[in-house]
Amino acid sequence: MRLEILEYPDKRLRKVSESVTRFDADLSKLLDDMHETMLGAHGIGLAAPQVNRPLRVFIVDLSLQEDEAKVRHEFVNPKISEGTGKISFEEGCLSVPGVGESVNRKKRIRVDYQDRTGKAQVLYAEDLLAVAIQHEYDHLDGILFVDRLSAIKRALVKRKLERQVQL
Ligand code: CO
Repeated sequence: MRLEILEYPDKRLRKVSESVTRFDADLSKLLDDMHETMLGAHGIGLAAPQVNRPLRVFIVDLSLQEDEAKVRHEFVNPKISEGTGKISFEEGCLSVPGVGESVNRKKRIRVDYQDRTGKAQVLYAEDLLAVAIQHEYDHLDGILFVDRLSAIKRALVKRKLERQVQL
């Protein structure tokens, strides 16, 4: 089932999401619906708070963006550590339509997380996968990629978004 994606400036995007404690059929259904919603919107990542479920859950699937095998990355209760290097990539967000800006991120990260069954997992990611994970992780803390721009760029983007919303 496709879910509605909340868009800027919706205040629900600013909540800090809660950890998942139950690895049940509801969680599996949410993840399946998130994949369907993300693919339908041609995104490469989606976090649960973007579909109004304030849980520490997000998905990443780079197969739309890169010529690689389809891997449905699913992260529940993720923790990012060991960030090294720097990378800047033009990011967009399904919750901030019409905006693409470069954001500074770590080039390599380690992610400890649980899968949909609750099993502990570790992933070492770099480049676009690392960028996507950091972008989606921010959503769990109510942070949007535009928050990470310089003050001048942020002001320009904000003005553009306000104009869009008023149309
Ligand atoms: Co986003």
